[in-house]
Amino acid sequence: MTDPATPTIFGTTPKTPDAPRSDLPELLTALADDLRNVGYTVDGVAGLLGESAHAALARDQLIPALIITEPAAFTGDPATDRAKAALAVVVRLWLLAVPQTEGDVDAALPRVRTSGLVELGLVEKNDGGAVAAKVDLRPYGWDSNEDGSGGAELWVSSDLAAHQQPGVLRHDHVLGIGQASTTLVQTTIRRHSKRALDLGTGCGIQTFHLLHHSEHVTATDISERALAFTRFNLMLNAEVLHLDPSDLESRVSLRLGSLLEPVAAETFDLVVSNPPFVITPRSAGEHSSDQFTYRDGGLPGDDIVANLVRTLPGVLAPGGTAQMLGNWEIPAGAGWSERPASWLAGSGTEAWFIQREQVGPELYAETWLQDASEGRDRELYRDAYAAYLEDFASRDVEAIGFGMIWLRRPEDPRPGAAPARFEEITYPIEQPIGPHLAAAVERADWLDAHELSGAHLVVADDVTEERHQRPGAEHPGVILLRQGAGLRRTNLLSTELAGFVSACDGELSVRQLIGALAALLGGGDDFDDDAFRAGLLSDVGNLVRDGFLLPAA
Ligand SMILES: C[S@@+](CC[C@H](N)C(=O)[O-])C[C@H]1O[C@@H](n2cnc3c(N)ncnc32)[C@H](O)[C@@H]1O
Repeated sequence: MTDPATPTIFGTTPKTPDAPRSDLPELLTALADDLRNVGYTVDGVAGLLGESAHAALARDQLIPALIITEPAAFTGDPATDRAKAALAVVVRLWLLAVPQTEGDVDAALPRVRTSGLVELGLVEKNDGGAVAAKVDLRPYGWDSNEDGSGGAELWVSSDLAAHQQPGVLRHDHVLGIGQASTTLVQTTIRRHSKRALDLGTGCGIQTFHLLHHSEHVTATDISERALAFTRFNLMLNAEVLHLDPSDLESRVSLRLGSLLEPVAAETFDLVVSNPPFVITPRSAGEHSSDQFTYRDGGLPGDDIVANLVRTLPGVLAPGGTAQMLGNWEIPAGAGWSERPASWLAGSGTEAWFIQREQVGPELYAETWLQDASEGRDRELYRDAYAAYLEDFASRDVEAIGFGMIWLRRPEDPRPGAAPARFEEITYPIEQPIGPHLAAAVERADWLDAHELSGAHLVVADDVTEERHQRPGAEHPGVILLRQGAGLRRTNLLSTELAGFVSACDGELSVRQLIGALAALLGGGDDFDDDAFRAGLLSDVGNLVRDGFLLPAA
């Protein structure tokens, strides 16, 4: 535990055991030069392996890449093959975790050489003298159009993953870039921020992205090893991330501590967190060293996510937003959103939860036991599986939801409950989804600030209409409005709403269009004009909120 008044600024102890060293600037520069020269980039590795072996590697399947990078495979043109063989040595060393000869490593990475890699803590020499990876070191990059602030090519170190080593993962395993990491990267709304917080930074993946649109990033973790990996990654990529290696702290502050302890009394415009949200059975007398720090926050059930939803708004500046991923328990007979909604009660926080997946206790247990390779020991597996089922049963949990969470501290709090939206979207959505979430938030704000009746609307470019009717029927039985981009929503339209949408060319106001439709479709004795207009106005508001209709420019 750290004293909130004096947060531990990480960086003064660069020699964290079992983590790469970031206090050897000359070796870091030599390593970066060598990796660049050997072509160790995302595209370089994809080019060496070919599409299918590269795709298999992304699924943690090493065999195709092992075959393609066999030294015997390089027997063609000497110049081309020398370059490919050098890259293959690096790929085999760090991505496939196959020990290499010292001579091959020295030839592939001639400036840093094996001796430098040993000093940096990235490799070790095994008993036979071969050079073996101590960590995973992989290229990672993103395109300039993803966040509007320039692309980047980096190298990121983390612990070797389950598929790269035998046995169960160490409990203080520092996670590499996984599916959840990239989900949060793609979900984050990227606009300029003065101060951003990455809570539970791990290898630093969220921080690298935040640095591209934030003046200053505070990255926290409960694990000193995680912060050491992040620091190493920042120093190795200092140039691309526009960091001054001699003054890292002017752009990044690394803080050791749990949850919000290291940033108490501070505020941020943006908080992102891929927290250790995995629900884990607790056992009597367990110690924190028994927990997989990368995924288990040490609390019962979904308490870590509940805690963050309740407390994160406290470190947001007015108008600031937090985005995180999480799991939530769904008790028998309850709707999935009941628990998340209860976490917000009385908070005044605006919220948007999107449930992306829901699984039963069995599948949940299998997924997370496999994740840490706990299935390799039959007895351990049986006991751990049973413990998961017992734990969920003790709280009458029928299913577990996973999804993304957006929170905002209102700029001008209003009396009453703040708006909260809960929706389930389990089909594939466009990625990165962040820009579309940003547009949705802007539309909701626009609706809040404008009188819809006076607005002029147009149909968004990605929207199409689909009509279904029985053969010979006079009118369609079903009219669907489909969105091609973003959350790819489908909306079932009433006849009057379909008529409204088809007339939305920006010419007439919403009020005028609704009036025309009331005149056209109304008139009968049981026609309630006020209810018709109010209902249609509300439906039109929903179409604007969801991006089917947009205010005319
Ligand atoms: C799922 S990993 C996410 C790592 C990285 N941010 C990403 O997106 O891949 C969760 C991280 O939270 C850290 N962590 C675990 N418990 C924590 C706590 N109580 N407070 C802060 N960080 C914690 C872990 O050490 C780990 O690095």
